[in-house]
Amino acid sequence: MRVATLEQLLDTLDRLFDDGSDWTRRNPREPVADHRVDHWAELFSRPDHPLTSDLPDSNLVDWRRRGLLPGGAGRTALGLGCGLGRNTRWLARQGYAATGIDLSPYAVRHARERSPAPDSTSDAIPGPTPDPIYAECDLLREAIPGGLYDLVYDSGCFHHLPPHRRLSYRTALASCLKPGGLFGICTFAPGRMGTEADDLTLLRRGRLEGGVAYSPDDLRAVFADLEPLDGGPLPSPEAGTEPVFWMDFLNAALFRRPG
Ligand SMILES: C[S@@+](CC[C@H](N)C(=O)[O-])C[C@H]1O[C@@H](n2cnc3c(N)ncnc32)[C@H](O)[C@@H]1O
Repeated sequence: MRVATLEQLLDTLDRLFDDGSDWTRRNPREPVADHRVDHWAELFSRPDHPLTSDLPDSNLVDWRRRGLLPGGAGRTALGLGCGLGRNTRWLARQGYAATGIDLSPYAVRHARERSPAPDSTSDAIPGPTPDPIYAECDLLREAIPGGLYDLVYDSGCFHHLPPHRRLSYRTALASCLKPGGLFGICTFAPGRMGTEADDLTLLRRGRLEGGVAYSPDDLRAVFADLEPLDGGPLPSPEAGTEPVFWMDFLNAALFRRPG
C-alpha cells in the first residue's frame, strides 16, 4: 500500500507504535482474550485502582460552582473515553442527558452496571436521574453516536494518544461539539506525570511511555480553534464540600466552541 489519503497516513503512523504502548486502539494482531486488546480491562479490574472511583473530577465540580459549567437541564453531555463512567454519571446528576463512549468493551459493560448514585449536594437536581447511555466506540476511527452535544468532556483519554492521532481527535471533537458548546479536558501535567519528549522523538522511538504531559499552554495550542475559559492544575478538594476525584499530577482546561 502506498499512502494516498490522510487516513492511510495515520494508519501507517499507528504502526510505529506496534510495541503495545498505544492504548488508544484495538490491537488487531492479538487474540480477543489477550489483555493487550483491552489494556483498560486489566486496569479497571484492579479493585484498588483510582479509576474505579465513583467520584467526579474536582475541576468539574469547581467549574459548576463558579458558574463556568451550567446546569444540565435541557442540555446534552458526552464523555469521551468515559471509562467506568464516574464523570458521565455526575453530569447526569447535574441534569444533563449524558452519553459516555469508550473503546473498551469491559469499561462500557461495567459503566452500564453502575447506575447514577444519589447526590447529596444541595444543588443536585431533585427527583430521579435518567441513566446515562453508554456505547462502545473508537472515537479516533468511528463516527461518534448522538449528533452534536452541548458539553463534551474527556478525563484521561487524550493524553494517551500518539502525536499524529491528535488530528483524528480534533476531527472527532468538531463532529460532536455544538457551536457555542463547552469542551472540558483533564490531562497529565508536565513535571508530574507523562512524557515531555517532543513529538518527533516519540514518533522515532515508537513508544508512548504511558502518556504525554500537557501544560495549559499546550492545550490552548492544540485546541487553538476553541476559546479558552479556564486552565490549570486540578483544584484541590475543599474540606466540607462534596467528595471529588483529585490527583496532583493532572491539569484541566475548559474551552468554548465559537458560534
Ligand atoms: C485513563 S482512562 C480514563 C477513564 C475515565 N475517563 C476516567 O477518568 O475515569 C482512558 C480511557 O480512554 C479510553 N480510550 C482510549 N482510546 C480510546 C478511543 N480511541 N476511543 C474511545 N475511548 C478510548 C480507554 O478505554 C479508557 O477507558
